Amino acid sequence: MARIGIFFGTNSGSTRKIAKQIKKRFDDDTMADPVNINKASVDDLLKYDYLILGTPTLGDGLLPGIEAECDEESWAEALEKFQGTSFAGKTVAFFGLGDQETYGHEFVDGLALIYEFFVDAGATIVGQWSTEGYSFSASQAVVDGKFVGLALDNDTQPDQTAERLDAWLAQIAPVFGLTVAA
Ligand SMILES: Cc1cc2nc3c(=O)[nH]c(=O)nc-3n(C[C@H](O)[C@H](O)[C@H](O)COP(=O)(O)O)c2cc1C
Repeated sequence: MARIGIFFGTNSGSTRKIAKQIKKRFDDDTMADPVNINKASVDDLLKYDYLILGTPTLGDGLLPGIEAECDEESWAEALEKFQGTSFAGKTVAFFGLGDQETYGHEFVDGLALIYEFFVDAGATIVGQWSTEGYSFSASQAVVDGKFVGLALDNDTQPDQTAERLDAWLAQIAPVFGLTVAA
């Protein structure tokens, strides 16, 4: 069985696309196929010791979900269901999509919301990412001067996504015991 689970929320599909790109870069046996968080139970996540979790930010710095102009349930509803579950012993890395030009005052804030949930649930967080190369006025996803996970802006910096993804995956690969596919 795969050791690493990858789960995402999405409204318009970009975060799903990134989840699929991550899966594609790795050896098939170690990483499971990406699953939309609205189809996952807490036991689906707990099957894995290593998790890669992705979210866009929607609404006003919100997680995707019914409240955030999404038609479907997503991270907001999933985290409510997962309340009270311990993720102690799990290693988690996050990636988040946002738009730093239109939403520069709440850039990738959704990333902060899933991060806080899993910190409180006892998980070990890896994959913090430099804020260099981004231009925004505020982000709750910056803790101790770094994003709590990989920040991607496919709206205004799409040409930087592949490079950022490669560098971030190389950074977390040793912790996750992964070999990046050539
Ligand atoms: C209604 C709406 C609200 C958004 N709010 C934010 C926001 O608060 N912060 C941010 O960084 N990006 C925001 N964005 C940008 C999205 O996060 C970005 O377009 C992302 O790539 C969408 O991912 P998805 O296709 O997986 O849903 C918003 C986009 C929309 C359509």
